[in-house]
Amino acid sequence: MNRKIISFEGIDGSGKTTVIQKVAEKLAAEYKILISREPGGVKIAENIRDLILNEENKDADGLTSLMLFAASRNEHIKKKIEPALLTHDLIILDRFFDSSYAYQGFGQEIGYYKAKMVNELIIKNFIPYRTYLLKISLKTALNRRENENREEANHLDTKTDQFYQRVIEGYDFIASECGKRYKVIDAEQSIDHIVDQVIEDIKKWI
Ligand code: ADP
Ligand code: TYD
Repeated sequence: MNRKIISFEGIDGSGKTTVIQKVAEKLAAEYKILISREPGGVKIAENIRDLILNEENKDADGLTSLMLFAASRNEHIKKKIEPALLTHDLIILDRFFDSSYAYQGFGQEIGYYKAKMVNELIIKNFIPYRTYLLKISLKTALNRRENENREEANHLDTKTDQFYQRVIEGYDFIASECGKRYKVIDAEQSIDHIVDQVIEDIKKWI
């Protein structure tokens, strides 16, 4: 596990981006922080991700998606995360390999162990010290997303409730498998409350 890396996970609309921004603001005076989300502004990684999320490719087999997300992730790691470890105190990731475990492994039903096997090829020295799972019900997530003015939709937005239910259960399973790396946070609480809990935890070990 790498003490300079933390990640945030949860279904779409669970509040990851909002919470990360506020956590980073609170720590910015003391630590040099990089926030990144896949594909991380890395050109090849972006091109691969565009391919995955393109409406035309929505019938891609789950294993194809898994390997493409992993390929994009490898570029993000090599070109952005690894260099940043030398220049920053903390890297905060808005989704990382656990998203593949939950979405491809459980949502697309590839299976957790296959998702793990593929990702283990690339994540060895980059396993987050903590992963904060923002846990909300599908109902709350859908309400939040309806209230949002989202500019771009992608074909994953059209997934069924059953798909998201599998993702939610997948995250619960992964959290129980990963023990101390995972901290599950009730993300139905107010944003400030969630941010305080994350900061309190980070301060214990940073
Ligand atoms: P994600 O990055 O997980 O998709 P966002 O941070 O984009 O989620 O949040 C989705 C929407 O929900 C945004 O409009 C945001 O303002 C709102 N939101 C996030 N966290 C909370 C919260 N704890 N309570 C109420 N609304 C929230
Ligand atoms: P993202 O842009 O992070 O969505 P959001 O802001 O809504 O959280 O990710 C786009 C979609 O890609 C999202 O539905 C989750 C999915 N995804 C996977 O299926 N596997 C992965 O490995 C990753 C990183 C994302």
